[in-house]
Amino acid sequence: MELSQKSLEALNLQVKIEADASHQYLATAAWLENQPGLDGVTEFFYKQSQEEREHMTRFMHYIAMRKGKAIIPALAQPKTEFANLKEVFQLFLNNEQEVTKSINQWVGLALNEGDYIKFQFWQWYLKEQLEEENQASKMLNELSMIGDNRAALYSFDKDIMNVREKVAEDTSAELNHK
Ligand code: FEO
Repeated sequence: MELSQKSLEALNLQVKIEADASHQYLATAAWLENQPGLDGVTEFFYKQSQEEREHMTRFMHYIAMRKGKAIIPALAQPKTEFANLKEVFQLFLNNEQEVTKSINQWVGLALNEGDYIKFQFWQWYLKEQLEEENQASKMLNELSMIGDNRAALYSFDKDIMNVREKVAEDTSAELNHK
């Protein structure tokens, strides 16, 4: 079943959105790696960048499977300097909210076109988005509570990869129960 022109354009736009997200998180990781004592948060953003790249390639494979041509885009210039960790996680949250908005739009398009195969394909992304938004919100809340407490910040950094996994598991469990 071939994709409509509109769907192909939507999917290729999403390839760019995922590529830009991957690039932004890589730039974020680069900034973090130069800050003292933030090894955990640095690892978090390297991992996030890698995942966004996987999201991108998943779209490319899907486009090819539906007999379309994936277009590799020029990347937007990422933000490379941050005032503090809160700014880092605020950007992460804002970015993921924008990605979710975009995906919701494409889900609507798939339904309008009666393309239920694609509708199903998008479901995986919606779950992924919910996980990422939950992670960003949780970390922003924790940072607000931590304030200038250096010992708490040390624990936050040490624990962040575990928190990341835990939020993902909790989100999945929550979705499967409903
Ligand atoms: Fe793949 Fe988090 O956007």
